[in-house]
Amino acid sequence: MFDVRPLSGSFGAEVIGFTIGENNTAEQVEAVKALWAKHKILLFREQSMDEKVLVDFSRQFGELEIHVRTEYLSPHHPEVLYISNIKDGDRKIGILADTEVGWHYDQIYLPRPAVGSLLCADILPPTGGNTEFADMAAAYQSLPEGTRERLKGCRAIQSYEAFNRAYSVPTNDAQKKRSPDIEHPLVRRHPITGKDALYLCPGMTTEIVGWNATESSEMLEELFEWCVKPEFVYSHQWQAGDAILWDNACTMHRRDPFDQNYQRLMKRTTILPAAHLAVPV
Ligand code: SIN
Repeated sequence: MFDVRPLSGSFGAEVIGFTIGENNTAEQVEAVKALWAKHKILLFREQSMDEKVLVDFSRQFGELEIHVRTEYLSPHHPEVLYISNIKDGDRKIGILADTEVGWHYDQIYLPRPAVGSLLCADILPPTGGNTEFADMAAAYQSLPEGTRERLKGCRAIQSYEAFNRAYSVPTNDAQKKRSPDIEHPLVRRHPITGKDALYLCPGMTTEIVGWNATESSEMLEELFEWCVKPEFVYSHQWQAGDAILWDNACTMHRRDPFDQNYQRLMKRTTILPAAHLAVPV
């Protein structure tokens, strides 16, 4: 139905000729869903940044998460999280202002982590602030057989606080209660494609449950290094109006820093899987 152009060697595609809008037909949305599952990351250029349009479109992929960092939600649509260094008086309107943001899966620290996100570039600095994505299914499939065997059935601790200490600002008490450290399987079976992917990230995964500390940190370091090898990574240089829909069950992402003298505003919706397809506990 749509032409697609590959973004990198192994994953990601630009969808040509599709406008996110109020008039998208069910058939078009189904076609986008199929491309999303196949390519893991979809880029749509020259899109509207109208929040209602973005929310209505995202909702067709699943229920939308209201992010735990309520202070950074759009005042118009709470399903939209602002990622921005822009200030309203003394207050930053968005999270993850302008420094590096380390590799992470969105909301791996929640019991029902997101299955996707739609990130839209509204205002951009002239350079910097690229977002990189890693294909964690390809990284898992190409691991040596022995390593995959060792990871079978393993679980790991995911910590939002660890991420905040390194890259963000602390949560308040109510937010901490909503996002305590949590365990998830180290390998996540994709709720739609059924394919396995490494479900860990340097920003938030702190230990493998039941392993001694040395073995756990050695294995995690090895995996962290493995999954960001160039063949698994795509780096996106944004243009205003770009919207990227990523598969958050099998890709993780990070962001480069940028010059704080310039403004950057990204709008993100976060898509939840159907409850019965969430990560098994
Ligand atoms: C994010 O991690 O969701 C934000 C990435 C970005 O600011 O490009």
